Amino acid sequence: MKGLHIHGVSHAYGNNKVLNNVSLTIPTGELVCLLGPSGCGKSTLLRLAAGLETLQCGTIVIDDQTVATKESSLAPEHRHIGLMFQDYALFPHLDIVANVCFGLIGMARDKARARALEMLDQVGMADYAKVYPHTLSGGQQQRIALARALAPEPKLLLLDEPFSGLDTNMRQMIREDTLNVLKQNGVATLMVTHDPEEAMFMADRIKILGRHGRVRQSGSPHDIYYKPNDEFVAGLFGLMNRLGGVVRDGAVETPLGRVGAGGIADGTAVQVLIRPEGIVLSGGNTGSNPGIPVSVSSTHLLGHSSIVSVSPDGNSGDEYFARVHREFSPELEDTIFASIEASDTFVFPLKEDTASAAPIGMAAE
Ligand SMILES: Nc1ncnc2c1ncn2[C@@H]1O[C@H](COP(=O)(O)OP(=O)(O)OP(=O)(O)O)[C@@H](O)[C@H]1O
Ligand SMILES: [Mg+2]
Repeated sequence: MKGLHIHGVSHAYGNNKVLNNVSLTIPTGELVCLLGPSGCGKSTLLRLAAGLETLQCGTIVIDDQTVATKESSLAPEHRHIGLMFQDYALFPHLDIVANVCFGLIGMARDKARARALEMLDQVGMADYAKVYPHTLSGGQQQRIALARALAPEPKLLLLDEPFSGLDTNMRQMIREDTLNVLKQNGVATLMVTHDPEEAMFMADRIKILGRHGRVRQSGSPHDIYYKPNDEFVAGLFGLMNRLGGVVRDGAVETPLGRVGAGGIADGTAVQVLIRPEGIVLSGGNTGSNPGIPVSVSSTHLLGHSSIVSVSPDGNSGDEYFARVHREFSPELEDTIFASIEASDTFVFPLKEDTASAAPIGMAAE
């Protein structure tokens, strides 16, 4: 099958084990995001695929050709890969068209130039062929780096946090444009990010790496978000309400109401995770079962949503975070009720490594 196959790759720097038996397949035309906290080995896996790091264990195959095993390694320049890192690494002494031509070694000059101009056109930078990199914004440099990586028609594109240097608005625009260009070029792409929203936006499939490079889950953005394997994956998407409990009669009783235990056996100690958007606040007149009466202790407007801190009436020690669309004005309501949305609520058996499941996605807010 065309594309990238990584099979059983483990890696250590001295005693520091950074990847643990990672396997991954990306068919041509698909984009897979590697998502995980800082230091979990994302860049290491990318560097191994590129041939910039020596493989210690496993195999790497690109378009049916084995490019690396423990015993043998094809040089990076023969792997037909396009690389793009966070700093773009454009050559300051070359104009834009020469930068894009750089990877087209062996092609006749006029042909290489025509190909470079074609790529510049695709990324919307055809008018900038003769300028030098220092005169361009970060977003424009990113487009040039993408054109340069794609010009030689690589079999595999490796992107390491390619948008992290851009501001929020520019990032959103460039992500969309990049996705269009990648789909147009039909290349297998492995992209590293630690921004869960970015992974959701870009990826056909997401692979989550946890501490020491252990794969925690692989799946579509939908599955990762709505069917997380464990609390580590569920916790990637930012602020979470975490409650303890025990399963009784197939459900867990929480201060905000009963939550189905999803088949976990009665008597099991569990953690219940509720996303802030899974706690629905209402004025009480909206339905027959509005939920539990709560008091609001604070609200913070984040822009497109607000985070509202609530406690069940008569239990001010228990505090939960609810996300409300736009601004929330508790003074307009006599009584506020909270109810739980099942699709944003997850129940997992309590495990020993619970303490390591820290959310990393708050920055995306
Ligand atoms: N050349 C190296 N020599 C020794 N240790 C290294 C080397 N490169 C990376 N490491 C270590 O390996 C671990 C994984 O690093 P890696 O760069 O793959 O993480 P990452 O997931 O890309 O993190 P980030 O999100 O911060 O970029 C880290 O503990 C790092 O310090
Ligand atoms: Mg990295």
